[in-house]
Amino acid sequence: ESRLQSPLIDNMTEAELYTLYKGMYLPSHLHSPQSLAYFEGFTFRPDDVVIATYPKSGTTWMQEIVPLIMSGGDPAAVESLHNWDRAPWLEEQRASQLNLEERPSPRVLTTHFKYNLMPPSFFEIKPKVIYVMRNPKDVFTSAFHYYGTTSYMVKPGSQSEFLHKFLDGIVPFNSWFNHVKDWLNAEDKGHIMYISYEEMKMDLKDSVARIAQFLEKHLDREVIEKIAERCLFQNMKLNKMSNYSDVPQEFMDQTKSEFLRKGIAGDWKNQLTAAEAEYFDTVYKDKMKDVKYTFVWD
Ligand code: A3P
Repeated sequence: ESRLQSPLIDNMTEAELYTLYKGMYLPSHLHSPQSLAYFEGFTFRPDDVVIATYPKSGTTWMQEIVPLIMSGGDPAAVESLHNWDRAPWLEEQRASQLNLEERPSPRVLTTHFKYNLMPPSFFEIKPKVIYVMRNPKDVFTSAFHYYGTTSYMVKPGSQSEFLHKFLDGIVPFNSWFNHVKDWLNAEDKGHIMYISYEEMKMDLKDSVARIAQFLEKHLDREVIEKIAERCLFQNMKLNKMSNYSDVPQEFMDQTKSEFLRKGIAGDWKNQLTAAEAEYFDTVYKDKMKDVKYTFVWD
């Protein structure tokens, strides 16, 4: 069963395809009033692990890594369930159908929501969160390709059109800047691990080891190495439970662009013109001027 359950929609506008929820566009196809109510009333457990990301920042990658860590490297953790069921997006329709209340601990959960939109129980229970960030120029590049493949996202249009929409936050989940700043400004950071896509690309073994340490899972070096090996782009791409190949083409047309597309850092250099990159940097500098965090890509 897919997380996509409504009929095909094509050539629709923002207003038709998206729901405006607390100032943020959401694909209506995945988010219903009922699923958003479910999210708002969700009860966390102290041993839940929450993967939080702005889309296209490495969500699926983390949905592979965390279950493998939690299971001590057991491949069944990522071979028996699709990523959207093994680490469901709490705000999506699918989550409300999975009976997560009955799921044994520790549960692995995902969200694309901002910190300030997390439900009340989140702030009481403070489950562990892994927030994955990625160079926004690469997020843009990945999104530009991805949006064109799905029937439930507004088509990106021309690259320059999409660039303006992206920088202005006229895209699902609002602007990258707001999302990252919101999570970085979390009031209580003790339960949040911040990691970047670029760090994971640079040294996946070390990243897996650090994530395991954060999750208080004591794993042997060989297990860490096995997990890292499995989560390399070319290996993970073969896992049909994670490569979206089970999603019907009418919802996601991977003949246009694969979900696990290139899996590299710095692909923006092949995508943006010099003028676009310069404009991006100007906006970035302005929007991020008050941020103290040192990003790997800076
Ligand atoms: P590209 O489009 O740049 O290739 P998300 O899961 O948040 O939607 O992000 C998708 C991006 O993460 C895609 O980027 C995808 O290829 C990349 N990705 C997924 N798994 C990966 C892995 N194991 N290693 C590197 N990149 C990965």
